[in-house]
Amino acid sequence: MYAGDLFFAMQPIETKRLILRRLEMSDAQDLFAYGQDPEVARHVLWEAYQSVSECRSYIRTMQRRYRTGEPSSWGIVLKESGRIIGTIGYMWYQEEHSSAEVGYSLARGQWNRGLMTEALRAVIAHSFEVLHLNRVEAQHELTNPASGRVMQKCGMQYEGRLRQRLRNKGHYVDVALYAILRDDYAARSGPEMTD
Ligand SMILES: CC(C)(COP(=O)(O)OP(=O)(O)OC[C@H]1O[C@@H](n2cnc3c(N)ncnc32)[C@H](O)[C@@H]1OP(=O)(O)O)[C@@H](O)C(=O)NCCC(=O)NCCS
Repeated sequence: MYAGDLFFAMQPIETKRLILRRLEMSDAQDLFAYGQDPEVARHVLWEAYQSVSECRSYIRTMQRRYRTGEPSSWGIVLKESGRIIGTIGYMWYQEEHSSAEVGYSLARGQWNRGLMTEALRAVIAHSFEVLHLNRVEAQHELTNPASGRVMQKCGMQYEGRLRQRLRNKGHYVDVALYAILRDDYAARSGPEMTD
């Protein structure tokens, strides 16, 4: 069980260029617009969307989790357009170890603007300051170094290569495991964590 009904209450988080907020059914078209792109789906464990109704089904799953307080994702709204351009959130949570894994994805047209670094920094801060976690993990396929770079820029430490840890779209893939501890966060929460 999770600590309290709404451990993952997923309250909105605002950063300089983004708002992270719960997904709404009216976001389905925005999710489809970028989630149908096979390049976006290449290194994640979901398939590129074939239809808007698949996006609705994902949103329904997230909304169920919002209600139960289970690990879930925020939609990432780009303030300048008001559109959903990605998601970021918790893949799992282990109450006994106060640890969780984060995962994320972003529309291809928005890559390399520092946006996911901005989002992940905010989620890491939320993880320690609001959820009081002790350890936040993330993993990326070795063939997806941009994601590793995001983790590094957010103060996560490389902990090793996990051989054939996942099967993605029919192939076993090696992943790099990163994590940040509460102690790391406390030591780093200076100017470089806040931009
Ligand atoms: C991975 C992803 C989240 C990165 O988001 P982003 O907003 O573009 O990331 P940022 O702009 O904050 O940072 C990207 C960094 O990777 C670097 N980078 C980009 N392509 C790279 C590559 N092929 N090799 C190495 N580094 C790369 C950029 O230069 C930048 O680093 P820098 O600031 O030191 O120059 C985004 O590409 C994405 O959503 N991809 C599809 C889904 C996905 O892979 N999700 C992660 C699963 S683990």
